[in-house]
Amino acid sequence: MQTCIDMYRTRTCGELNIANVGETVTLAGWVQKARKMGGMTFVDIRDRYGITQIVFNEDINTELCGQANKLGREWVIQVTGKVAERSSKNKNIPTGEIEIIADKLEILNVAEVPPFTIEDNTDGGDDLRMQYRYLDLRRNCVRSNLELRHKIAFEIRRFLDEQHFLEVETPVLIKSTPEGARDFVVPSRMNPGQFYALPQSPQQFKQLLMVAGFDRYFQIVKCFRDEDLRADRQPEFTQIDCEMSFVEQEDVLNIFEAMIKHIFKYVKGIDFKDPFPRMTWHECMRLYGSDKPDMRFGMTFVELKDLTEGHGFSVFDNAKIVVGICAEGCAEYTRKQLDQLTDFVKKPQVGAKGLVYVKYEKDGSFKSSVDKFYAQEDLKKWADRFNAKPGDLMLILCGDDVNKTRKQMNELRLEMGERLGLRDKNKFAPLWVIDFPLFEWSEEDSRFYAMHHPFTSPKTEDIQYLDSDPGRVRANAYDLAMNGVELGGGSIRIHDSKLQNKMFQLLGFTPEKAMDQFGCLINAFKYGAPPHGGLAFGLDRVVSMLAGLDSIRDCIAFPKNNAGRDVMIDSPSAIDEAQLKELCLKINL
Ligand code: AMO
Repeated sequence: MQTCIDMYRTRTCGELNIANVGETVTLAGWVQKARKMGGMTFVDIRDRYGITQIVFNEDINTELCGQANKLGREWVIQVTGKVAERSSKNKNIPTGEIEIIADKLEILNVAEVPPFTIEDNTDGGDDLRMQYRYLDLRRNCVRSNLELRHKIAFEIRRFLDEQHFLEVETPVLIKSTPEGARDFVVPSRMNPGQFYALPQSPQQFKQLLMVAGFDRYFQIVKCFRDEDLRADRQPEFTQIDCEMSFVEQEDVLNIFEAMIKHIFKYVKGIDFKDPFPRMTWHECMRLYGSDKPDMRFGMTFVELKDLTEGHGFSVFDNAKIVVGICAEGCAEYTRKQLDQLTDFVKKPQVGAKGLVYVKYEKDGSFKSSVDKFYAQEDLKKWADRFNAKPGDLMLILCGDDVNKTRKQMNELRLEMGERLGLRDKNKFAPLWVIDFPLFEWSEEDSRFYAMHHPFTSPKTEDIQYLDSDPGRVRANAYDLAMNGVELGGGSIRIHDSKLQNKMFQLLGFTPEKAMDQFGCLINAFKYGAPPHGGLAFGLDRVVSMLAGLDSIRDCIAFPKNNAGRDVMIDSPSAIDEAQLKELCLKINL
């Protein structure tokens, strides 16, 4: 298929094949490499679509060949010639059966030697590639991530359009609210001493659009959060933000499960036949110690507190929870491997004090790090609870803080999954996590925070506990997790002003403070707010999942580094005195 015809080219570098032999074509692109072999010079010309080999023959056109011999890497050239069948074919690329016998060469631009090679296995380190990101983006592997991103965004729009969703843009200069992550703020010149905030999400606006009767809204939208960065977090990232009216949780889950299935099918050719499994937040925490469990493998948690008590092992006796996993076929682990696992759980990022192991030997006996305290028949009881078989290894942690210990066990489970090759990037295991708690208690601030946000509705049957036992109240909130990553999340919102006011009160807002921060939404709700709910996916995370990337940075054209800097344009940067003065700002470092 002919990709495009422009003034500078009749074909692109990725489309010619044996069927085009004999055609005269003009290509334009960058010199990937040039090599001289006897009287022949071979030049690989590259554009977005691929690479084509150009041949310059000294015997046929000495001057042209001389010109070709001067070409450097990344020079921009235009070549005209005839498509010919190659004698030695390259089966690895689509154009590998042909070459162009050049009869015209135009140098459109010269290039300095690039700071790293523009190849998949480049010699450029991370920092250098980010500094010259526009060169990095020329590499196939990086470009293909952005192509995938485009395709995914396109399929999302197609799917949602067919479902009658309207894409509506919401403002980027909004009002700062202290809930959630830290805001990025922008000073207002026209309103001295006052600041806009960049949206952490368009949450309030999409709810206002529901009040406005828009019914089904979506937006592929930039969001901004000033939080510590990780592989799956950027300070500016993109949400697929959605909201619907006259829906219950079931409607939202069904439509967005269909959207994710649509993306996987049309972008990756993967058909999820079954409905996505669902699990309550409490079950997730109990079985996986995480609200985004990696469901590609088992190794669910088993609790042993009752079986371990009263044997004189004070570490277990004094603990609130004794929890373990069973690693199939790992009884053969050496001392060294077990020490490595112990070191792993003791790392500050994991934070456990130690690790107990029990080997279920092939002969049916047990060998453990707590043999002093437990007899073989005690350990057999543990093994039975784990459903362990001879040859398996049980790994056990304990602690005073149930949630913390489960989180530590989650880290160990993921580590074991990694070691055992169970976290296959070509396997996708979605899970809807439902029934999140409405509130989260902060020891530090001695107050409840909204686990999701203050507009999330409690489950009707739990409203009765709002005053007496807020920690027990479950929310109509849900996340979609996949392979241990939170792809998206949302909730059914409160549309009743009285209940909303109650929420603010429970979250410690005075009516004045609630009005100051959320007055617009509170007022809007007085004018007929429909029942509504929605969710937002992280587009960067969805793309990285489909591309099998370790970091979302690799699917963002111009990402920030871990210090939140764009090293290419060198931002953030200081602004000059005059600008500061105009904004009535003083720097106080
Ligand atoms: P939430 O805060 O869960 O919900 O965000 C929704 C999704 O956005 C993605 N995400 C991020 N991706 C990259 N970098 C970040 N720093 C980052 N932070 C979040 C995640 C996450 O699941 N307004 C609500 C949604 C709703 O209730 O409708 C919200 O923003 O994939």
